[in-house]
Amino acid sequence: MRVFVAGATGAIGTRLVPQLVDRGHEVIGTSTSTEKAEHIRALGADPVALDLLDSAGVRQTVLEARPDAIVHEATALADATFSRNFDRTFAQTNRLRTEGTDALLAAAREAGVDRFVAQSFASYRTAREGGPVKTEDDPLDPAPPAATRESNAAMRYLEEAVTNAGGIVLRYGLFYGSANDGLIEPVRKRQYPIIGQGGGITSFIHLDDAAAATVLALEHDGPGIFNIVDDEPAPAREWLPAFAEALSAGPPRRIPRWLARLVAGEAAVVTGTEARGASNAKAKRELGWEPSYPSWREGFVAAYAPVALADRRMPDPAAPASQSPSRLST
Ligand SMILES: NC(=O)c1ccc[n+]([C@@H]2O[C@H](COP(=O)([O-])OP(=O)(O)OC[C@H]3O[C@@H](n4cnc5c(N)ncnc54)[C@H](OP(=O)(O)O)[C@@H]3O)[C@@H](O)[C@H]2O)c1
Repeated sequence: MRVFVAGATGAIGTRLVPQLVDRGHEVIGTSTSTEKAEHIRALGADPVALDLLDSAGVRQTVLEARPDAIVHEATALADATFSRNFDRTFAQTNRLRTEGTDALLAAAREAGVDRFVAQSFASYRTAREGGPVKTEDDPLDPAPPAATRESNAAMRYLEEAVTNAGGIVLRYGLFYGSANDGLIEPVRKRQYPIIGQGGGITSFIHLDDAAAATVLALEHDGPGIFNIVDDEPAPAREWLPAFAEALSAGPPRRIPRWLARLVAGEAAVVTGTEARGASNAKAKRELGWEPSYPSWREGFVAAYAPVALADRRMPDPAAPASQSPSRLST
């Protein structure tokens, strides 16, 4: 198949493109910048520049590329600084999930593309009631924390638009497996605490496993929604100490809910204390997918032991940041 990957240079895109090529697909990979053309070529794809917020440009680029399938992996989180105003951090990503999805779907329709796979998110989204692990059929949180409402609405919008068009939505778990994963610095600096009893559950996924599931989803008929998460949804009180240990960092601090609400806001409290995890049974059953890292327990060690080792070897604090071994490229 000719596969058009919107967002080929991102955390998931860079893992996905080589796997698609290995599977025998011809890949067109996008970046907003022509400067990354060589990088995309090195991954094995033909590079094109694309801004998903320019619908005329999206139309033209897709029509010229003549793909058989489109994968939407575009987000705008590379420079994100997380704050208590979650929706502000995600504002551009939310546009990519609404306007960007509309533009890609319209172009797909016009180009006669009938395979469409798009990125969504599994963790922290389902209703905070009943058992700890939820399937794709369980209701989404009807009242997410105020600071996350726009982001939750954007994900709902994407999921409805894509499945109404016959496409597939992948609700990935929280990504890990890269030396610049967003959680590394806060965990290393002991800025990511266990809140209250630490009962909020997170579903993780190693980036390589997320990419493998995406390859399989492309070969599956839609419409459908799949949780792409590992086998072990886990409460913060279990995964956070393991994450810190894999990085050879100090153990996470513990803070009461009231203090976390004051310092980090309601969304952080909900995530750390009430969130439910996601089941991957449907993806295993229907896509024939099996994660190569069934649990974050072995995945964190594989991903972060080299990061910890590089930190221990970091010799000269006066050395330029660009030479710092903790800034491993992925
Ligand atoms: N499920 C998850 O946990 C999850 C999901 C997504 C991201 N993240 C995390 O967020 C961090 C940053 O993610 P990332 O490395 O994937 O970077 P990112 O900045 O989110 O970029 C992702 C991709 O989207 C493209 N893109 C950005 N704006 C676009 C636009 N207007 N039109 C079309 N394409 C656009 C980027 O292209 P260019 O930058 O090349 O222009 C890139 O290819 C990583 O730590 C990642 O793990 C986590």
